[in-house]
Amino acid sequence: MSIVAAYDRTSDHVVGLTASSFVTLSFDPPLVMFAIQHNTASYASMVSSRAFGVSLLQQSQTDIAALFATSGPEKTGKTTFEPGRALHVPLIPGALAHVECLTNQIFISGDHAIVVGLVEEARTFDGQPLLYFAQRYGTFRPLDAE
Ligand SMILES: Cc1cc2nc3c(=O)[nH]c(=O)nc-3n(C[C@H](O)[C@H](O)[C@H](O)COP(=O)(O)O)c2cc1C
Repeated sequence: MSIVAAYDRTSDHVVGLTASSFVTLSFDPPLVMFAIQHNTASYASMVSSRAFGVSLLQQSQTDIAALFATSGPEKTGKTTFEPGRALHVPLIPGALAHVECLTNQIFISGDHAIVVGLVEEARTFDGQPLLYFAQRYGTFRPLDAE
């Protein structure tokens, strides 16, 4: 599970949302993508942002995933963000990975926009990922685990 967040180009306020659509797209150049629904409060700021940050959450961060699945600006006021190393992007402290991207391409598809980002910085940290299935949060268990 990931939190995609950006600074609004005009106000510099943080916008962000919980997203399961974040995936890697290309190795060379290094591209990633996520899809954002047209009717989210973050939509206009996100599709016009020059850069965005992605925080892949740890299994202990279900509260953050739930908070960022709520709509509107209140959630960002309740959150402390970490600055990006390479770009002006907001990141969630304590995440499993941080990815800093320049907004590269936007495709409108159905009721979502697909936002493609060029990765400028990516860091991973120790921990277990937060996953989501059948409306429940969980974590990864390898099939060959004893
Ligand atoms: C598990 C989960 C995954 C989600 N993935 C996405 C996603 O990939 N794209 C999207 O637009 N919304 C997704 N959402 C919904 C947004 O998080 C939700 O609409 C949020 O309220 C949007 O915030 P905003 O209106 O403040 O922008 C997801 C929600 C959950 C619970």
